[in-house]
Amino acid sequence: MKTAQLDSIRLAYEDQGTGQPVVLLPGYPLDHRMWGPQIEALSKTCRVIAPDLRGFGQSTQAAEDAASGVSMSQYAADVAELLDAIGVSEPVILCGFSMGGYVLWQFSRQFPERVKAIVPCDTRAIADTSEARQGRLKTAGEVLKTGIEPVITAMLPKLLCEATRNSRPEIVDELTTIMRSCSPQAVAAALRGMADRPDVSKELEKIWQPTLVLVGAEDAISSPDEMRGIADKIPGAEFVEIPRSGHMTTLENPEAVNAAFVDFISRQS
Ligand code: MLT
Repeated sequence: MKTAQLDSIRLAYEDQGTGQPVVLLPGYPLDHRMWGPQIEALSKTCRVIAPDLRGFGQSTQAAEDAASGVSMSQYAADVAELLDAIGVSEPVILCGFSMGGYVLWQFSRQFPERVKAIVPCDTRAIADTSEARQGRLKTAGEVLKTGIEPVITAMLPKLLCEATRNSRPEIVDELTTIMRSCSPQAVAAALRGMADRPDVSKELEKIWQPTLVLVGAEDAISSPDEMRGIADKIPGAEFVEIPRSGHMTTLENPEAVNAAFVDFISRQS
């Protein structure tokens, strides 16, 4: 794990391999470890950069972030600043999982010339409903008072498919460990940021970069139907459904995710 000092925070990141840069943006409340199998597989042929978003993992956040929230655009700006700091000036293949996907949309909007291709995984293009938004803001307040254990209890059943929950305790444990390491401040900041994220569904048709849309066949957060709808709107997008997986495709079925990534990346010369 390396760290880069940015303007106001320190960002931690994995940086492995050489060649075409591939940036992997994690979901919530997670860090780069959710991409473990992909970092290992893709770094054989690419330079894989997997940051912990502001406040998560070993990255720091600003004192005001928990109260004000961190917008998806701010996370995206942090990633651009990281790429500058480590000397990556060529366009990257940008992969974003769930909340990392919300950041991917904003990065592609703010820095289109820095993006060679995109891989939105298990994510959404629409904004929160007002009910979901209120729920997030309530949880953001609670997590600062009571800690993140209730968040983990609520999230786990939504993240994994039934078969994983029932018969793969090692994945349940790994995910719980990653979530438990998140600070309440980072979780509150992300919840407030996600609650305010914009609806980007009207902008999908303007995306010009090659796109691979990935989703777990049993994803309960961003359903295959919803993600197929995203792929249908992006000109030329490819769509791959990952079998035997809920939301956490990267850990539940890494072989299928890696195969889809490797095939897609090998065609982006
Ligand atoms: C994620 O996995 O990043 C979250 O489930 C996204 C969300 O809560 O919208």
